[in-house]
Amino acid sequence: MITLREISAPIREELRTFQDHFRNAMRSKVGLVDVIARYLLRQKGKKIRPILVLLTSKVCGGTTPATYRAATLVEILHTATLIHDDVVDGADTRRGLASINAIWKNKVAVLMGDYLLSRGLLLSLEREDFYFLKVLSDAVRRMSEGEILQIEKSRRLDIDEETYLKIISDKTASLISTCCELGAASTTPDEEKWKQMRSFGENIGMAFQIRDDLLDHMGTKSMTGKPTGLDTKEKKLTLPLIHAFRKAPRKERKAIMQLIKSQASRNGKIRIREFVKTYGGIDYAIRKAEYYSNLAREELQPFPDSPSKTALLKFIDFVTARSN
Ligand code: IPE
Ligand code: MG
Ligand code: MG
Repeated sequence: MITLREISAPIREELRTFQDHFRNAMRSKVGLVDVIARYLLRQKGKKIRPILVLLTSKVCGGTTPATYRAATLVEILHTATLIHDDVVDGADTRRGLASINAIWKNKVAVLMGDYLLSRGLLLSLEREDFYFLKVLSDAVRRMSEGEILQIEKSRRLDIDEETYLKIISDKTASLISTCCELGAASTTPDEEKWKQMRSFGENIGMAFQIRDDLLDHMGTKSMTGKPTGLDTKEKKLTLPLIHAFRKAPRKERKAIMQLIKSQASRNGKIRIREFVKTYGGIDYAIRKAEYYSNLAREELQPFPDSPSKTALLKFIDFVTARSN
């Protein structure tokens, strides 16, 4: 089993430097904002996005001061979106700790998310990182649109695979591709490399979210540190279910849809999981994640071998096997 520790070995020092930048960027003179910022620093996220910024920058030349600014920017933004996501989903746990909304209520959580969002944007403006700002703003737009599209579709339980793929590209792959593009852009003027890294990020981002949705299906709260999909208020229709719906006879499909709509009980949830398994939903999603992983692997081919490139290749394997 590949670990993030192993993957981040070539950037161990750089990650520590990033952590200092990140901590400083979160601070505030307003008491409660600072209390929440400290709490967020205690929550242990995987730091996948800064890891990707650092590794891609190294593969494209080497880390620069701009690399740290990009890494800080994306992690702050990611943190803001998780806080908002937990409000939207009414989730009480995140990263194994109580969510911000669970402790300080929705009002404070929404405003804290806004605060972090604006901190991120200001950080880039201060240093005139206009290109970072441009790429990131577009990612934020897509993330919001993706989340809203997901809500719109989930209410009617009528998502097809194409729509699902658009949703996850917007809500997850957009930020991950941004990380990889900005890693490259922070170190080389060669725009061909930016494009290649962006495409690598897009594909690995797709695999990452498909895997995330798989974990939602198979995993438990103790594995992922957050409630599972069927426990949240917004019913998410993800790839394993979408595929099972496509394969199942109409009658059975209707029965399961009814079950999902009616806040399934423990037994109901077990039945839903069985249904997904029976119609090959799990296997199908695993294969789809592998498909995107392979595309990501191909994008790395032109880059010269180095410990950081090896780490990115290991990251691809990590994504398809991870359990948190
Ligand atoms: C969670 O991302 C949101 C998704 C896009 C699935 P991560 O799984 O990277 O969250 P943390 O940062 O490790 O908590
Ligand atoms: Mg959500
Ligand atoms: Mg969520």
